[in-house]
Amino acid sequence: MSLVEEIQKRKTFGIVSHPDAGKTTLTEKLLLFGGAIQVAGAVKSNKIKKAATSDFMEIERQRGISVATSVMAFPYRDHQVNILDTPGHKDFAEDTFRTLTAVDSVIVVIDVAKGVEEQTKKLVEVCRMRRTPIIVFINKLDREGRDAVDLLDEIEKKLAIHVTPLSWPIGMGQGFKGVYNIYEHKLVLFRPHSKQEEEDIIEIKDVHDLALDQHVGKRPADELRAELETVTAVYPPFDREKYLNGDVCPVFFGSAINNFGVKELLDCFIDIAPEPLPRETDERKVLPTENTFSGFVFKIHANIDPRHRDRIAFLRVCSGRFERNTNYYHVRQERMMKFSNPTSFMASRKEVIDDAWPGDIVGLYDSGNFNIGDSMTEGEKLHFKGIPRFSPEMFRRVINKDPMKTKQLNKGLDQLMDEGVAQMFVKELNNDKIIGTVGALQFDVIQYRLEHEYGAKCDYEPLSIHKACWIDADQGATLQAFIKRKTKDIAWDKDRKPVYLAESAWGLKMAQETFPDIRFHFTSEF
Ligand code: G4P
Repeated sequence: MSLVEEIQKRKTFGIVSHPDAGKTTLTEKLLLFGGAIQVAGAVKSNKIKKAATSDFMEIERQRGISVATSVMAFPYRDHQVNILDTPGHKDFAEDTFRTLTAVDSVIVVIDVAKGVEEQTKKLVEVCRMRRTPIIVFINKLDREGRDAVDLLDEIEKKLAIHVTPLSWPIGMGQGFKGVYNIYEHKLVLFRPHSKQEEEDIIEIKDVHDLALDQHVGKRPADELRAELETVTAVYPPFDREKYLNGDVCPVFFGSAINNFGVKELLDCFIDIAPEPLPRETDERKVLPTENTFSGFVFKIHANIDPRHRDRIAFLRVCSGRFERNTNYYHVRQERMMKFSNPTSFMASRKEVIDDAWPGDIVGLYDSGNFNIGDSMTEGEKLHFKGIPRFSPEMFRRVINKDPMKTKQLNKGLDQLMDEGVAQMFVKELNNDKIIGTVGALQFDVIQYRLEHEYGAKCDYEPLSIHKACWIDADQGATLQAFIKRKTKDIAWDKDRKPVYLAESAWGLKMAQETFPDIRFHFTSEF
């Protein structure tokens, strides 16, 4: 098969949601449809969210499971579908943001009763910034929930996106009859926990057809007709170009646990979702159809076995063909490397592969050569964009509890930071190490892993820092002068970029006003 044909076959996407909306259940049902798993209950990766905050033993256990389910690939209708899993726990939000750099589209799951929740808002914001095409799946229609029109209104307002429903629910909760598939003009009847048989899908091209009444009853049929009239008046017809541009999001209704509405979603997804898209680098745009291979690392996962400090780097292939046992150029380290056992993740099986194509995710065994964001090419110096670090929300100073193990502590901290567990800043004034995270959970994870994997012990001193801002200026001298003036608030990130640690919102505002020539950035990519 040619490169172009391989590209056209692939659909690489992520499913995102606020915890408990049904992401895991939907993922599992998609895998069932794809024949990738045979039984329900096989996907447990993001149950981390259910662990108590301090239960990091459980987190460690889950981390091991989630390696296997980080990427799930399966064939469906002549396509290869690559699902990238994202952690549900909010403390791992940054991990999710990074994973989103490796997808070409997303499915957002929303709970019909809860509507738009906090985590959904943040994740969709990131997708919107990158114009990632979004399909919305409204879940749990078997339960009483919000009115469909109100919910779509809320989605448009809170997520600042435009929607076009491609299916419409008939009733809800106890009275849930099914959905009318606007995209394919079909009535799909709901039977709880059914495998959704062929006879449940009835072709009704025109909703005024009386066959509709026979199947769902006259009142629900009339309600559906009235609602669809409003829907077609209010929402524009589906336009694929607009969806691909990130301007409009198609919406489906269903019940993942009952396997309902999932097949429609998957079939439509296969029809409309983008194939592997070009990627921006600092140097130029990289097209998937280019013959030379390129890719970037978006995630690093430590192996669960603490005795082997092996890690798996997840690389997204962006162009050309990746081949086993072939020398590729590690751009940051400026050297050639080859891989004898690159793995793919077909369902939860790991398999050594001989080649991979744009859109594919390859697992590379790594003994510390990779950082998140690293590029591999056939020799060209490319730096893929879009893997920024965001200002952390919580900061603590690391205290070494066992000075005899300083070397181990430093090595452990460096490696955990490479994995993207948290960010570390080294103070200009005294070389103090400051860890910044999105949530409290990471501090426990770091402490636990330092002890169990590196034999080092640390404690933390809480710091009141409001934000870490990356700083730059047009003139090097201006920046140097600022660093000198603010020495005690300056630290260096792992790429030796200067960062201003603002103690408070007010302090930051003052600094911005007093030093107008200094630019303050809230992400590392500017
Ligand atoms: P998440 O990954 O987004 O966090 O959500 P997950 O799939 O774990 O689903 C959260 C809860 O919602 C689960 O119940 C799941 O069974 C339930 N659920 C998912 N889809 C539907 C649906 O269509 N209808 C209804 N009524 N419930 C649904 P749980 O009790 O928290 O977990 P479990 O014991 O069932 O695993």
